[in-house]
Amino acid sequence: MSTGLAVEQEYEPVILALACNWCSYAGADLAGISRCQYPANVRIIRVMCSGMVHPNLVIEALTKGADGVVMCGCHPGDCHYQEGNLKAERRAEAITLMLQDFGIEEERFKLAWVSASEGPQFAKLMTEFTDQIKRLGPSPYKT
Ligand code: FES
Repeated sequence: MSTGLAVEQEYEPVILALACNWCSYAGADLAGISRCQYPANVRIIRVMCSGMVHPNLVIEALTKGADGVVMCGCHPGDCHYQEGNLKAERRAEAITLMLQDFGIEEERFKLAWVSASEGPQFAKLMTEFTDQIKRLGPSPYKT
């Protein structure tokens, strides 16, 4: 027998987190070890350094299934490759411009610094970013 109540499904975005091996991925690991809760929407991809993420990768992700991309690197001065995160910062500016060209809201992309000891901060960042993407709704490239 039906209750007559419609069950409204909450929109669950796909979030990609590109985390540098030396700090941010370790921070994500610590979040897991410390049992810090963050949404299951987040798929983490380990990269060696945030400076190695080409802008095209972010655009490709956002046009082919991801609703949001967060790029995480070491804090300034802590990059294992010296200035990779500074390069990432400049690339983030380029990514923001590219997003406009693609008609994608710039809030769908975020650059953040997370150290190996910042597990709770990693979880908080992912929770807040996921909430932000939920408010935006699905990527305009999703049919
Ligand atoms: Fe972490 Fe370069 S190694 S940003």
